[in-house]
Amino acid sequence: MNSDGVEHSAANVNSGILPDVCIVTSESQPLLPPSTPTTPNMDLSDPHLPPWNTNITDDPEYAEVIKQAERAIEGSILPVRIAAGSSGSYFVRNLEGRTIGVFKPKDEEPYGRFNPKWTKWLQKTLCPCCFGRGCLIPNQGYLSEAGASIIDTKLRLNIVPKTRVVRLAADSFNYPAYKRHLVTAKREINESVGRHMHGRRVFQPRGLPTKVGSFQLFVENYVDADVFLKRIDHESLSDAVTAEFQKQFERLVVLDYIIRNTDRNNGNWLVKYEVKTNNERDMIENDIIDVGEGDHMTDPVTTNETTNTGATIDVRIAAIDNGLAFPFKHPDEWRTYPFHWAWLPQAKIPFSEEIKSLVLPFLSDMNFVEHQLCEEIQRLFSQDKNYDRRLAERQLSVMRGQILNLVQALRDGKSPFQLVQMPAIIVERAHGFGTEEPRHFKQKFNDRYPIFSWF
Ligand SMILES: Nc1ncnc2c1ncn2[C@@H]1O[C@H](COP(=O)(O)OP(=O)(O)OP(=O)(O)O)[C@@H](O)[C@H]1O
Ligand SMILES: [Mg+2]
Repeated sequence: MNSDGVEHSAANVNSGILPDVCIVTSESQPLLPPSTPTTPNMDLSDPHLPPWNTNITDDPEYAEVIKQAERAIEGSILPVRIAAGSSGSYFVRNLEGRTIGVFKPKDEEPYGRFNPKWTKWLQKTLCPCCFGRGCLIPNQGYLSEAGASIIDTKLRLNIVPKTRVVRLAADSFNYPAYKRHLVTAKREINESVGRHMHGRRVFQPRGLPTKVGSFQLFVENYVDADVFLKRIDHESLSDAVTAEFQKQFERLVVLDYIIRNTDRNNGNWLVKYEVKTNNERDMIENDIIDVGEGDHMTDPVTTNETTNTGATIDVRIAAIDNGLAFPFKHPDEWRTYPFHWAWLPQAKIPFSEEIKSLVLPFLSDMNFVEHQLCEEIQRLFSQDKNYDRRLAERQLSVMRGQILNLVQALRDGKSPFQLVQMPAIIVERAHGFGTEEPRHFKQKFNDRYPIFSWF
């Protein structure tokens, strides 16, 4: 880490050689030339994927969106801060001005140094005991967002819009005034020296520093679950649509329960409910195949009911705002952070055979849980400059416990409502054993509970 608190990507640090400095034409243009390609699919001679974002080259479609974001920022189409919310989160646009992602920089999270929301600052300063969640590691929301996406992908739930950790710099982000002044002063000195000394310069023409954060692909035509739920309160859905919504809902339950999301209220998941003529639908699906954009959760559309008029109805859930998950202990203070979906009528219906056959083969395989879920999550968390292995191990113990309960609930034919009433468990890796197989685990019931509980 350098003195500005800027963490460099592994690709950069591990290369072991100093990168060449290239001549730049604008402040925001990346300073460093691209590194050698790591995947054959990616053309890294394209200057729009600088080394600090080469960690995403394994996913060309996602990397393309990041390139579009960087091009737009260079073209002065800057990310726009989301007005609502407790942290600095930004809608990121492409050159055409279309929103393509949501970027949440680490240092603008509620605990971040540069959180732009003064109400949060006031709360943190005047009432620190009511601020934040004692069961979460502060200021790692960006990792939690990306972690939810990993779990979603591994279990093929396909409800979290792809989210990864990237670095972006833009004038519209919240930087301290001194950093902006420094950049301007250096540029002015360079210009002045250049005028008198034939283009020579004193400082590297560095722009504002990049910020690390989560970047989630933007999904279109979705509404807040609150809105959708109110709508179906007085507008009954057909049986086929109801069944499809139930399947999507179960995926949300599985995701939230595994990551022990502490912030799943009905404003933090979205629903798409669309009636399309078959022509429209074909066109949209072709568009997705052509440009890899649009609705980014692109596995075959799971839903559809063909109506008498030849139209189809799509109902899909998008689980957004996953930044307050992966606690290192079960909530045991005065709040329980319940899953708000547990009060919905859908939560009273036992889990379907479909969700069982989707996730049980994965979740009842201990090797899968350890290597594909726990190790991936740990690798992700280890990127943080404040990574604490012990705390990460505790996060995994909670997650293993959640998985154990979930598997039991699925096998026993329980409903989501019954699932959330099961006693919380932690499954720790037993001390004294290395990371080699065979692994030994200790299962413990959580012995501390919140003072107040809904269930
Ligand atoms: N991936 C996405 N696709 C489409 N819309 C999104 C996406 N992510 C967020 N939004 C929209 O932006 C709004 C704010 O997003 P989000 O809740 O993630 O931000 P936040 O800053 O964490 O807010 P809060 O602190 O209120 O939860 C959402 O209610 C939703 O309408
Ligand atoms: Mg939110």
